[in-house]
Amino acid sequence: MTNSRILVDSLGRVHNNLRISVTDRCNIRCFYCMPNDNVQFKPRAEILTFEEIARFTRVAASLGVNKLRLTGGEPLVRADLPALVGELASVPGIRDIAMTTNGLLLADHVDALKRAGLKRLNISLDGLREETFQRISRRSGLDRVLEGIFAAQRVGFEKIRLNAVAIRGITDDEIVPLGEFARQHGLELRFIEFMPLDAENSWENDQVLSGSEIREALENAFGALLPIERRDPSQPATDYRFEDGIGVIGFINPVTQPFCSDCNRLRITADGKIRNCLFSIAEWDARQVMRSGGSDEQLVELLHDCILAKKPGHGIDSPDFVRPDRAMYQIGG
Ligand code: 5AD
Ligand code: SF4
Repeated sequence: MTNSRILVDSLGRVHNNLRISVTDRCNIRCFYCMPNDNVQFKPRAEILTFEEIARFTRVAASLGVNKLRLTGGEPLVRADLPALVGELASVPGIRDIAMTTNGLLLADHVDALKRAGLKRLNISLDGLREETFQRISRRSGLDRVLEGIFAAQRVGFEKIRLNAVAIRGITDDEIVPLGEFARQHGLELRFIEFMPLDAENSWENDQVLSGSEIREALENAFGALLPIERRDPSQPATDYRFEDGIGVIGFINPVTQPFCSDCNRLRITADGKIRNCLFSIAEWDARQVMRSGGSDEQLVELLHDCILAKKPGHGIDSPDFVRPDRAMYQIGG
């Protein structure tokens, strides 16, 4: 046990960034994240209450966590999310709250979220054709996602980011149209390599459309991409601007260019397990501590234990790589 008041691991990585999954439920079924049928959602009673999330966040903030991101499943299927945002925004030390959403319910809630203190939004958009949307999410609704994006712009969200998972054979011909769309509407676009976190165990290396391939396709269409100097070493994306000055494109290449050495992120799942990596096998049970009358100091210890056990990297490339038991929707993106 250590008395350190910051969350620093054995490699000196300081953890100030907490990703909070507020639900494992979702209103669509993206194949890279969830199974199509018979999804086993956690019973309501196993999901952390807003009070528990706020308590955990206060303890994490006392250890230097100052950035939060709400994830899911789809965070907006959880009722009353703006109330949680409001509560988290008032936790001393928290200076940034962001959310990753699929956008389907965004138009209805975006105003309340903004007023509650949400600062930044990442919206998933893997393509601009309804057919692509359906192939990936196995549901319909691209038009509602687009409505959500425009609604977020209308209520004054700045720096809205689009997240596009790139999958060979499915989104190859969406890359350039997405680039065009982002440039036209003043949106930041980030391409993310497909990671082995799907629920049906179907991931194959061949499906990973790498960041460098995407970059080439974009440069052919729009001219040179010029690297933007990285201000925050822990940001996972490498950003570029277009030669003509219109727009910013980022690449998150966890598979071909792991960025684990600068990772500052920890996660808590909707059912209250702390994880030190998307790919970690072990978990530390914060819910159990909170529901058995444990003290904040015990949560501090649990957080330190979790961070001290963090591995240097995910090892997707290694022959010994073991996929985590949980799929993306059960971890939080
Ligand atoms: N690989 C890469 N990104 C993923 N996401 C979900 N599953 C995967 C995966 N297997 C990302 C998507 C989604 C966000 C919630 O997480 O970008 O928008
Ligand atoms: Fe839902 Fe997001 Fe998973 Fe898609 S990636 S199924 S939108 S949680």
